[in-house]
Amino acid sequence: MPMENVTRIGVSLEPDLLGQFDKLIASKGYNTRSEAIRDLIRNALIQKELKSPGSSVVGTITIIYDHHKGSVKETLMELQHRKHEIISSSMHVHLDLDRCLEVLVVRGTVEQVKELSDQLTTVKGVLHGEPVLITSEFDHHTH
Ligand code: NI
Repeated sequence: MPMENVTRIGVSLEPDLLGQFDKLIASKGYNTRSEAIRDLIRNALIQKELKSPGSSVVGTITIIYDHHKGSVKETLMELQHRKHEIISSSMHVHLDLDRCLEVLVVRGTVEQVKELSDQLTTVKGVLHGEPVLITSEFDHHTH
């Protein structure tokens, strides 16, 4: 990353903690401690922002369901049409004879997106559901 507009800080760590940190960041593939620390800080800020009411988020909701189960297909379709304002796109993959994987790209307030995620994952026949959200105002990665 460009080195203008950065402030160098010193961090004091116990050798044992530093050793564990170095192992962790090596396993994740970071080139430098600075990159790893920047990501940790960004992540902490995103997590904090995700907890503040009304914040704008973007992300995905991934669900896996058995399309033979009752009216799961119709229920999911109804729900997605009702929430079309916050669903930007979706992808459907037929995993095997029974199971479907759907990934929805979503944007809205954290409350809207979490409500949708809860509604989708509690539909009968949905085996698994997981939202991945980040705050949409947050600055992009620079590495
Ligand atoms: Ni399918």
